[in-house]
Amino acid sequence: MTNDAQPRTQWLGRWGFVLAATGSAVGLGNVWKFPYMTGEYGGGAFVLVYLACILALGVPVMMTEIALGRRGRGSPIDAIRRVTAESGGRSPWSLLGWMAMACGFMILCFYVVVAGWSFSYLWKMLSGGLAGTSVDDMAAIFGANNANPFNLGFWSTLVTIITMLIVGKGVQAGIEKSVSWMMPGMVLMLLIMIVYGAFSGGFGDALHFLFAFNAGSLSSEGMLAAMGHAFFTLSLASGAILTYGSYLPRDASIGRTTLTVAVADTLVALMAGLAIFPVIFANGMEPGSGPGLIFMSLPLAFQAMPLGTLFGILFFVMLSMAALTSSISMVEATVSWLTDNKGISRRTAAWGTGIVLWIISTLAMLSFNVGADWTLAGKHFFDWLDYLTSRWMMPLGGLGVVLLAGFVLNSEVMREELGLSPVMHALWLFMVRYVSPLGIVVIFLDALGIATLEFAVQWPWLLLALAVITLIGEITSPRLKRTLCA
Ligand code: PFF
Repeated sequence: MTNDAQPRTQWLGRWGFVLAATGSAVGLGNVWKFPYMTGEYGGGAFVLVYLACILALGVPVMMTEIALGRRGRGSPIDAIRRVTAESGGRSPWSLLGWMAMACGFMILCFYVVVAGWSFSYLWKMLSGGLAGTSVDDMAAIFGANNANPFNLGFWSTLVTIITMLIVGKGVQAGIEKSVSWMMPGMVLMLLIMIVYGAFSGGFGDALHFLFAFNAGSLSSEGMLAAMGHAFFTLSLASGAILTYGSYLPRDASIGRTTLTVAVADTLVALMAGLAIFPVIFANGMEPGSGPGLIFMSLPLAFQAMPLGTLFGILFFVMLSMAALTSSISMVEATVSWLTDNKGISRRTAAWGTGIVLWIISTLAMLSFNVGADWTLAGKHFFDWLDYLTSRWMMPLGGLGVVLLAGFVLNSEVMREELGLSPVMHALWLFMVRYVSPLGIVVIFLDALGIATLEFAVQWPWLLLALAVITLIGEITSPRLKRTLCA
């Protein structure tokens, strides 16, 4: 390939990337956000749409982003510009890279606040501040934790500093190591919680709530939320996965890697649901009680189970670590762009980014106390950051990525990068050309009230026809070429 990309650092083998990408994907989105959104949007139907979005949008977009990153060997902006130029495309596509970088940074601005909650609960666990509390006390403790800006600010500042310390140290040393012990630890903790939940009396209700499909309970807003969350949880369209992909060695299989990350991420989210909802139902709590859900429910379980304090401490250590491996991935795009383009060191780039992050995240943190009244259209600054990124910017970015790969890039580029068999390549192409873009557009139109989902019923035939055409095209074209050249 001829382009102006610099030689880049690479992960130490295939597992380095898988661990880092899983570390990015698995985080507060799985353990904090997925359960509370499921609670807010009514359970099973939300879960089903979320799973469908992971499969139909998340997996194809992730494969495409990794391929774009590896091909373009750079930050989202540079990588997309190079890959598009290689196919004779125009530079406006690199706007996608700018949006992704902005999106990752905006997410980080509220993410460090939530990560701060996790750290502060770890501290409460260690210092015995959660012992002997009732269901009502839990809500009061969560409220009091947020009401003091110095307390909350202390924890989010700490998260910012730790994140920048790790990022400043560099790709391999900083990121890879922490993920390799954190992930298995997180899974083990969740398993312990699920076993506890199975005996808590609320397990049946939890299963029913999570997996019973009740179409009536899902609004257009819920569908949009489920789609946005699929992007959020896989760290898509926000620069993280694409930039990590730029460090991936040439011989690693993108398809297998993507599946590993997506399956691990989805399992952790479902496990978190199975760990949390039994506690909610056994204690008569409200599943739709919002962002404080896990912080108000899990400590109750830790109080009641044998060795609860120890498990509670371990759990919050794991959650805080999971949050950190995600936050470091959100800064990676910006830091990589600054070091590649502005000639500054990694350390300077990390700390410079950290200062801007600290200022904006402090504003987000104030949404819970001093700035509780600073709202626009009923949303705080914190809520706006979440809403704009998850509901709009990520799905739009994902749409851009699949359109770029499906229609603009020279088909050989993706064929070479993905290295799939003809049938699998046809499947990928069919997804990025038709299923993913149509899915995203329809959910947008539905949420905007422009069209309803009913017309989607007419699709299966259209989609089937397009699938067959793509498959035939894919299987015959390389063969045809070979025959013609022979
Ligand atoms: N996937 C992360 C989580 O579920 O917590 C959040 C995230 C990480 C979003 C990195 C975006 C990103 F670039």
